[in-house]
Amino acid sequence: RKDVGILAMDIYFPPACVQQEALEAHDGASKGKYTIGLGQDCMAYCSEVEDVISMGLTVVASLLKKYNIDPKLIGRLEVGSETVIDKSKSIKTWLMQIFEESGNTDIEGVDSSNACYGGTAALLNCVNWVESNSWDGRYGLVVCTDSAVYAEGPARPTGGAAAIAMLIGPNAPIYFESKYKASHMSHVYDFYKPDLASEYPVVDGKLSQTCYLMALDSCYRQYCRKYEKLVGEQFSISDADYCVFHSPYNKLVQKSFARLYFNDFTRNCSSVDNDAKVKLQPFAKLTSEESYQSRDLEKASQQVAKHLYDIKVQPSTLLPKQIGNMYTASLYAALASVIYNKHDSLGGQRILMFSYGSGLTSTMFSLRLHDGQYPFSLTNIASVLDVRTKLESRRETLPEKFIETLKLMEHRYGAKDFETSKDTSLLPQGTFYLTKVDSMYRRFYDKK
Ligand code: ACO
Repeated sequence: RKDVGILAMDIYFPPACVQQEALEAHDGASKGKYTIGLGQDCMAYCSEVEDVISMGLTVVASLLKKYNIDPKLIGRLEVGSETVIDKSKSIKTWLMQIFEESGNTDIEGVDSSNACYGGTAALLNCVNWVESNSWDGRYGLVVCTDSAVYAEGPARPTGGAAAIAMLIGPNAPIYFESKYKASHMSHVYDFYKPDLASEYPVVDGKLSQTCYLMALDSCYRQYCRKYEKLVGEQFSISDADYCVFHSPYNKLVQKSFARLYFNDFTRNCSSVDNDAKVKLQPFAKLTSEESYQSRDLEKASQQVAKHLYDIKVQPSTLLPKQIGNMYTASLYAALASVIYNKHDSLGGQRILMFSYGSGLTSTMFSLRLHDGQYPFSLTNIASVLDVRTKLESRRETLPEKFIETLKLMEHRYGAKDFETSKDTSLLPQGTFYLTKVDSMYRRFYDKK
């Protein structure tokens, strides 16, 4: 099978959002902390009629419709999510409603979960299935769906919500270079959800940043090693046209790219120019532990990498800066941003991807692109994503409304026997929404 990868994509995010500037003022944070400090513009959140299941239903129905895919042609459906609605019943089973309607119940796959990494696990499963002997010729479908909400405090502005669907098959315009994949997995308590009565994680923010960067280093080193072994040439960021990172908030993405650049410096790569070499030289002797703690290195490397960041990373930041952390969907919303922004110039290019899920699991892999053929063409994917229109038709709400919604959801989490307001005024036509949870905790959805 040739060029197995992503044939089609769609994204759904809630229409309700709050400006980071307004949230900053509301929280009494210093001016610029969320916007410049974290690098975020706006944050989407689910209203009381939306959740990860409704968003998943919406995005799957939308993808099938917009690319005109017969639901019978799906042979594997995998969901990545870290939002726990049920400890046993997978989100995938709710999504089966769409396929049962057309008589297709022969669909493999369940949910994958480990923080923000579940979507990547689901995607790799689908790609491996299509590449394997078990493939029955039908499409794989990956759904990443999450609502990221945090307790009051410094992590709260790093929330967000979205669902992404990706159709998987051969001859894809966005295909995997499966041989160069590298992972770093280990046991840490940086971000986890031990309290099953609460939707909020327990998070050690500083530790999670360091774990993220350590995992990035480890994956990049191994990725380069594998590439060099197979290709016989050194790999550096010059070989990637775009670098796409899991994006909890934009500042960490800026730091991540600078870190790759620093790696290239220590490996003596041609991607690092003379001026940068001089500026990074004072940090050449730091131990790796020291290098994670050095604020001066962080600043210097961000500064010397800035011109490359603008070219190779900035196009991926549109959706993550506007929506916030979408957990499992975050990396793929960043990828969607590149496709949306650059679809007419991506043929032949390479995108380096870094997926991180706290706890921790991480993988670096790369994608190659070609223009593809309608409906599975980059141009058509960009037009289906329709990012600008979707962003512009959102409704900005006051921070007070956002906080009131979170309070209500704290009571609703794990609750039974309630009806929602069924207020769908903000939702676009075709959006699924939650109507009630009955006395047996069964959830009911309708479509606008
Ligand atoms: N103007 C400009 N910049 C400012 C201002 C200001 N007024 N105030 C602060 N800043 C900068 C800080 O210097 C810092 O930037 P730097 O790291 O480049 O120095 C940044 O804003 C954040 O400020 P901190 O004081 O470090 O923020 P705080 O510790 O309060 O919270 C954190 C940040 C830890 C990221 C928190 O939001 C969090 O815990 N988020 C969730 C965890 C997370 O997302 N981790 C990422 C990987 S795990 C995952 O994906 C879930």
